[in-house]
Amino acid sequence: MTFDQPGWHTANMNSPISLKQLPQTNIFRKGDVFVLFGELFGRGYASGLVNEARKAGMDIVGITVGRRNDDNTLRPLNDDELAAAEANLGGRIVNVPLMAGFDLDAPAGEPTPTELLNKMTLKSWEQDRLDWAHIEKCRALGTRRFQAAVAEAMAALDGLIGDGRNVLFAHTMAGGIPRAKVFMVIANRIYKGRGERFMPSQALLDSDLGKLILQNFDEVSASTFQHLIEGSAAIRARVEASGGQVRYSAYGYHGTEILVDGRYQWQTYTNYTQGYAKMRLERIARAAWDTGVKATVYNCPEIRTNSTDVFAGVELPLISLLHALKHEGGGAWAESQWQACRALLADGHTLEDVLQKIADFQGSEVMQGFRDFAAWPQPNSQAQADLQIGTSDDIVQMHQDRAALITDLLSSLVLEASGTLILREASAPSGPVLWLNHDIVARQLNQLHA
Ligand SMILES: NC(=O)c1ccc[n+]([C@@H]2O[C@H](COP(=O)([O-])OP(=O)(O)OC[C@H]3O[C@@H](n4cnc5c(N)ncnc54)[C@H](O)[C@@H]3O)[C@@H](O)[C@H]2O)c1
Repeated sequence: MTFDQPGWHTANMNSPISLKQLPQTNIFRKGDVFVLFGELFGRGYASGLVNEARKAGMDIVGITVGRRNDDNTLRPLNDDELAAAEANLGGRIVNVPLMAGFDLDAPAGEPTPTELLNKMTLKSWEQDRLDWAHIEKCRALGTRRFQAAVAEAMAALDGLIGDGRNVLFAHTMAGGIPRAKVFMVIANRIYKGRGERFMPSQALLDSDLGKLILQNFDEVSASTFQHLIEGSAAIRARVEASGGQVRYSAYGYHGTEILVDGRYQWQTYTNYTQGYAKMRLERIARAAWDTGVKATVYNCPEIRTNSTDVFAGVELPLISLLHALKHEGGGAWAESQWQACRALLADGHTLEDVLQKIADFQGSEVMQGFRDFAAWPQPNSQAQADLQIGTSDDIVQMHQDRAALITDLLSSLVLEASGTLILREASAPSGPVLWLNHDIVARQLNQLHA
């Protein structure tokens, strides 16, 4: 279903609303301001959007999450760190620490949530209980700290945005895994464990430890978007009153339609515990949209970034982009991407072997059971973890070099396409929640490289 069909707004709850047309408008030009709300890592989604904003001639402004002192207090970047961050971004950084989440916040003299988690052991964590009244105090403190930092950052940013300029605020924050030893071990097992090391993700959700982590995901990956929208209200009002336009984008994840058996089908990485926070992010965009703010969550395909290395097998659907490139009218350039992927494989392995493994994986009865949009995000199962992590390992083994994978190459292509798609769609956005599936990504790439 597309957003221009009747009932799209409510249908969104039951099926993805996909971007189907290559967006044609671009309101962003020299002197307009692009604000990155998150730090920039080389292979992260944001780099595609920053490149596109730079091509449009926009001024680039970034923020920092800050750094921690030995006693865990937050501080701004020092001079060297600031210079390095500005060189990396290619723009000014507003140096106010915008670390989100409350895992290290607590009233003076009381334990932080991370300290409480560090009392749990691998034997005890499923039974260990948390004092929720105390956790709520920590959460409220973290929220106030973040909102105050946003206010300070916005005051500085205000001076960098001239009247009449268009502004794009690009939210990229996602995370919230607390640095607690016990969780590091659990995370390794629920995201990467198979065979005897498998651990059901439902056990995590049922525990107090898991409930706390879900709250922290909400704070980092979702509430920050709301604080951004609310915190920039004065800038928005001033810019709009002077003839400029203000847009907000955020990166979501809620499964992706990829080519399976010759037709586009929705599928998802499992188990995506962060999915609850991503649905909250979608609700924040819808609520803002309903008040007239042009905020859009772009649900993006699975790629490999600094943040996904913990999720074994998240990259498997990406390999099917090769099919989409051809299916969407790809010519010589698409063929050259196939060749470049072939060149990464070790002797004795063909790209057809890799694609067959993906077809077997997607076609398996086990994975069919996870193609249930309404039930997302489902917990993992032993059979699914074994198959997904096993397939991921097998495909890595088929390469010459683990540090140069087909999915690295394809990730960089998706970054490029998503940057173009988001900047242009943000010019005249058609809704608060949009999926960028393999079809539109492939069409955008084929057009960029025609
Ligand atoms: N990689 C994927 O497959 C994929 C798919 C769909 C959507 N996304 C989304 O894209 C966005 C960018 O992620 P990415 O995968 O490119 O990885 P990334 O590691 O490059 O980006 C993660 C971002 O989160 C910020 N961040 C992390 N912890 C934070 C905290 N406590 N407080 C404030 N900011 C914090 C970082 O500064 C960084 O900007 C995220 O919202 C992610 O969920 C990723």
